Parts: sequence; structure tokens; C-alpha cells
Amino acid sequence: MSGPTLAEMAVEVLSTADGRDKTALSRAHAATWTAARTAGRNIPLGHATPPPLPARPDRPELLDPREVPRRRPGSEKGRIAMLHAVAHIELNAVDLHWDIIARFTDTPMPMGFYDDWVKSADEESKHFNLICDCLEEMGSHYGALPAHAGMWRAAEDTAHDLMGRLAVVPMVLEARGLDVTPGMIAIFERAGATRAVDAMQVIYAEEVHHVAYGSKWFHFLCGRHDVDPKEVFHDLVRRYFHGALKPPFNEEKRAEAGLPPDFYWPLADNATTRG
Ligand SMILES: [Fe+2]
Ligand SMILES: [Fe+2]
Repeated sequence: MSGPTLAEMAVEVLSTADGRDKTALSRAHAATWTAARTAGRNIPLGHATPPPLPARPDRPELLDPREVPRRRPGSEKGRIAMLHAVAHIELNAVDLHWDIIARFTDTPMPMGFYDDWVKSADEESKHFNLICDCLEEMGSHYGALPAHAGMWRAAEDTAHDLMGRLAVVPMVLEARGLDVTPGMIAIFERAGATRAVDAMQVIYAEEVHHVAYGSKWFHFLCGRHDVDPKEVFHDLVRRYFHGALKPPFNEEKRAEAGLPPDFYWPLADNATTRG
């Protein structure tokens, strides 16, 4: 049997533009990988070069973040804009998880590293589809509004540095998702938007694991190189992440994901506001 290697599967997802097509392929490849692992066979990792930028659909139009219109959460329009922004983040996350799989195959890692990111990519694909379903139920769709350009910047900045990638993507950007999601769920609860609430509850529960996988493999690599995880985390975030981290932090969920306060508080906007 000689199907594609894992790296080839990842590049295939990254090279697919349409969101529904990308996520369908992502879920199919994840199922193939997981079925093989469960049966005790390993699909070879292989090597394949991920594109510098993942393929994206013609719509949404991508704008500089400063030009993306502000969303007012009190209105239906505002809630659609918010869900549209979430769909954009989820689609980007699908690509980020496949990119980490394909980009760093020269660094030997245990199989569990690939299991974790394949599972995460599968979950992001589900998240994108759940949010698209909500948008469509509300008479909109992914691509109907402009979205942030520059979401791939963290990936470009850390394309040659696996520890930097882990520090910035799961441990900073995805951890930020844990901070803001409860407030978004409350907005949709107040509006009685059950479907969106349910979708965001799924996202909230599963994102904790993505942050945890980041922390786990970051600590693993620190152990391999015999360096202090907290100091290295601070160095890498200062090098690759543009701007300070924004409190309030979801300290409970961050703790659950293996991110202790002394990792993120020293990088916060105003370290003196710690409560
Ligand atoms: Fe997600
Ligand atoms: Fe995630």
C-alpha cells in the first residue's frame, strides 16, 4: 500500500483554496491517519514542501486589520460579523496545524506529536464548518464580509523555528482564544442564538487541548535542549510576537492547558495590573 505520506497530505490541504473543500480533505486525511495508527500501522511522515502561503478562496476580501469594519455585537449584523471573523480564524487554524506537521519534518519528533496536530487540524476543520453552518442559517456565508489579512504572519515569522512556532501559535494565539471565547458565548446566549452558542462551546472545550499540545511539545523540546522553558518562552515570544499580551487572562483554562501564570504575565500589556 503506498498512499500519500503525512507531509504530502498536509501539503494537499494547504494547497486547497475553498474552505469547505479544504476542511473536507483535512477531515478525510485525519481519519486515514487515525485509522492507520489505531490499526498499529504508521503512515510514513515523508517530506513535502508546504507553500509559503496556504491557498485561499477569492472571497473573503483580505484587508489590513485597521480597515476591517468594527463589529457592534448588539445587532444581528454585528453577530454575523463576529461569526465571520471566527470562521476566518478557524480556517487559518486548519492551515496552521497542517503547516506545523509538514514544515518541521527535519526535526525528529515522537509519533504523538503528529497525532496531536492531526487531531487539532481535524477539530479546526469541524469548527470552521460549524461556524459556516451558523452563518448560512443567518442568511450569510464565509466570504460575504472582508476579513483580516496578515493572519499567516506568525507562521511566516516562525517558519524556521519549531520552538518559536509552538510558543507563538498554540501558546499565545490559541491561548488568547481561551480568554475571549466565554465573552463571545455570552453575547450569543443573550441573543438566544442557540446554534452559535453550541458551536462555540465545542470550540471552547477543544481549544484547551490545542494549547495543551503546544505546551507539552514546547516543554519536550526544552527538555531535549536542556534549557529553562519559562526563559526560552519569554525570549521567543518577544522575538516573534508583535505586541504585548492582553489581560484579562483565563487563568483557569490556561492552567488546564499547562500554561502557568509566570509564563504569560511578564509579557502582559501592563504587568502591574496583575490581580
Ligand atoms: Fe478552532
Ligand atoms: Fe485550535
